[in-house]
Amino acid sequence: MLGRLNHVALAVPDLAAAMAAYRDMLGARLSEPQALPEHGVTVVFVDVGNTKIELLEPLGDASPIAAFLEKNPSGGMHHVCYEVDDILAARDHLKQIGARVLGDGNPKIGAHGKPVLFLHPKDFFGTLVELEQA
Ligand code: CO
Repeated sequence: MLGRLNHVALAVPDLAAAMAAYRDMLGARLSEPQALPEHGVTVVFVDVGNTKIELLEPLGDASPIAAFLEKNPSGGMHHVCYEVDDILAARDHLKQIGARVLGDGNPKIGAHGKPVLFLHPKDFFGTLVELEQA
């Protein structure tokens, strides 16, 4: 079921400062910031060749990463995203074996225009897992 690592998402309290650090200290190639109001984040993609790093800054009052940043004020790893061929089949399989799918269980369109789902971190040893239909 599990495919490639699509991205690792890092929550950051200050996107401009994180962009400057990745660009100036690490020499990374960065996208322009993209506001995704429906996801409550502004995102910058860091291209590292074999995968992407996503820098996420809260956007709006009900950002899904706000609570994470309250607990981790300097930022931290927020989730990992794995690719799957068939997200509905993956969801049905996971639900059947007792894994918790977040939200209403229906895939949303993610930052890359593809359907995504999130799995409860308590089922995966403390790490929030995103699945994206590749
Ligand atoms: Co993601």
